[in-house]
Amino acid sequence: MELFKGAYEGAVTATSYAEILLAKAIKEYGADCPVKYPDTAYRLPVITALSGEEVNTIGDLAPILNRVRTTNIREELTFENAKLNGEATLYAAEVIEALRYLKGAKPDQFPYTGFISDPILRKFGVPLVDQTIPGVAVIVGKGKDSKSTAKMVKDLQSKGIMIFLANEVIEQCIEENVKIGADFITFPLGNFTQVIHAVNFAFRAGLAFGGIPAGQRERAIEYQAKRVLAFVIQLGPNDIVKFAAEFGAIFMGFPIVTDQPVAEEIPDWYQSEPDYEKIAKLGLELRGIKIKIVDIPVPITIGPAFEGETIRKKDAWVEFGGGRSTSFELVRMCEAEEVEDGKIQVIGPEIDEMPEGSVFPLGFMIDVYGRKMQEDFEGVLERRVHYFTNYGEGLWHVAQRNMMWVRIGKNAKAAGFKIKDFGEILIAKFKSDYPAIIDRVQVTIITDKDVIEDKIKIAIEKYAARDARLKGLTDEAVDTWYTCTLCQSFAPNHVCIVTPEHVGLCGAVSWLDAKASNEITPTGPNQPVLKGECIDPVKGQWQTLNEFFYTGSNRTIEKVNFYTMMEDPMTSCGCFEAIMAVLPLCNGVMITTREHSGDTPCGMNFSALAGTCGGGIQTPGFMGMGRRYLCSAKFIPADGGLGRVVWLPKELKEFLGQDLVDAAVAAGLGADFVDKIADETVGITEDEIYPFLEEKGHPALTMDPIM
Ligand code: SF4
Ligand code: NI
Ligand code: NI
Repeated sequence: MELFKGAYEGAVTATSYAEILLAKAIKEYGADCPVKYPDTAYRLPVITALSGEEVNTIGDLAPILNRVRTTNIREELTFENAKLNGEATLYAAEVIEALRYLKGAKPDQFPYTGFISDPILRKFGVPLVDQTIPGVAVIVGKGKDSKSTAKMVKDLQSKGIMIFLANEVIEQCIEENVKIGADFITFPLGNFTQVIHAVNFAFRAGLAFGGIPAGQRERAIEYQAKRVLAFVIQLGPNDIVKFAAEFGAIFMGFPIVTDQPVAEEIPDWYQSEPDYEKIAKLGLELRGIKIKIVDIPVPITIGPAFEGETIRKKDAWVEFGGGRSTSFELVRMCEAEEVEDGKIQVIGPEIDEMPEGSVFPLGFMIDVYGRKMQEDFEGVLERRVHYFTNYGEGLWHVAQRNMMWVRIGKNAKAAGFKIKDFGEILIAKFKSDYPAIIDRVQVTIITDKDVIEDKIKIAIEKYAARDARLKGLTDEAVDTWYTCTLCQSFAPNHVCIVTPEHVGLCGAVSWLDAKASNEITPTGPNQPVLKGECIDPVKGQWQTLNEFFYTGSNRTIEKVNFYTMMEDPMTSCGCFEAIMAVLPLCNGVMITTREHSGDTPCGMNFSALAGTCGGGIQTPGFMGMGRRYLCSAKFIPADGGLGRVVWLPKELKEFLGQDLVDAAVAAGLGADFVDKIADETVGITEDEIYPFLEEKGHPALTMDPIM
């Protein structure tokens, strides 16, 4: 068979090529030259996942390549052997690529991403598990023409698919103004060998979220086949090395669809589809990826790919809020007769009456009726406004409530976007995402500067009432907490318990979110747990929760303490926004975030630290967390609470701002406590920060020993 022959010959070529490059590198830099990708805890992830061999220097690579050549490269042309040849090719590509990063080289220039760091991988944890990103497409080669290729890519973007691009298809997308880059969940990796960065990204999902130990080849592959819903679209002529790499993908469980004729297709694994309108659909089908289609009658593309899109001032046709005009968004629960389902009303000027570069006020009033709607869900729904509007290509939305700041890009205006279309988007998304709690929804959009001053009063009053209610929502005030097992699709043993004062470690699921989600899908990932009998009120341990954990974690976790990170703490999956670690010398704890890539006083940066815990295991002394948890009155209370925090990255201090100061005051630490916490400008080792803590009189230094 032509395909198998190609895979064999390609594997021989690829591994030989890797050997030549490796020999050259050893000659030039010496066998001791360290080799690693930037900002990852998993060294060379393909090798880490498949064989677990520890690679520190380029000299370590030679025996690995040798081994793979002798064990994997098989001449007899069978499907099984083709996959082994494919595996060998993955090793070869990983070696070839890793050699480009020697001596701190940054080989990939804009727009190419090259290797994708761990923090970016972790950032996509939640959208992957909640299926905002329903699957992954790896598109390699050169399409027959730019137009139809770009159309295919945009179509996948509108479906929310995570996309990796390699080779000329990148230039074709750029030519057609397809928005690409990490912000658009569309990674232009680089030329052909860089496609291995899609592979090592996928393998890291198993290592980081799945908790699969290094070197467990069978489990690593099973994880890919089952949980990473990826497929490959190969465009344009193939050659033997491409064949071999494609069988590397098949080895991982990812089918190939190609626009080229294939003499002998392998059903389910290697199929041809020359029609560009159908090729992606075939890939989705082969992988069993279900797309929830929401047809929204607006002239712009809507999809999570455009959430990360920023619209600069100079690219905006019109701007709202952001301190320059009044703005607000409000979701209100109403009576049935008050809501006319699907009604959109614009009070004030439409976009045609807004000159280029102008500023207008903007108010969204979203009235919702539903038999199972509760007032508590208003806030949950209101926060969705950000995502729904931001998903629009050419629309930009930041902040919330009466801080809302919105821009409509010139491109969206040119495409024919109208103010009324905000209503179309909001109504369609609310009804499709929350069918169980929303029966009717109507949207009033206000752009009139007098009317808005009147209507905003209703919103402000609502916010105040909601905040007052939230203040009273403490762990003790409710008898039911919620579980979250959403991440189990990637971290099979992980369970989050979400309480009023402890947001999920992804930062995206609060107690109210979980409550609403349980109302929407009673059998879904958020289950109510009655706290019941308390075993340890200080460390925070309850019998029923232990029982839930035991079954929920596939019998791997027997007990959990909610109020300490030092003994049987909550598990961490992999998508945590931040991570905390004990600093024994300073008798305190430090926290670092995905956004902060620098080193920290515990001796590890975020990626390395995250690599030490996660995958749904308990790691005393370390815990993943949502950033806002730091401001909670239940922040590790058994360990001393906020007063234990001795180091934070500046970024986190700034992100939390006044809320952190308020939390310090509430904890009795005083308003100046935040200034006593060291950051990277003070130091990045315990020795460097200790004198600072002493000088500031940091409370942690006089607390009971933390360990
Ligand atoms: Fe995952 Fe926990 Fe967030 Fe749920 S709350 S999505 S389990 S991290
Ligand atoms: Ni957008
Ligand atoms: Ni997670």
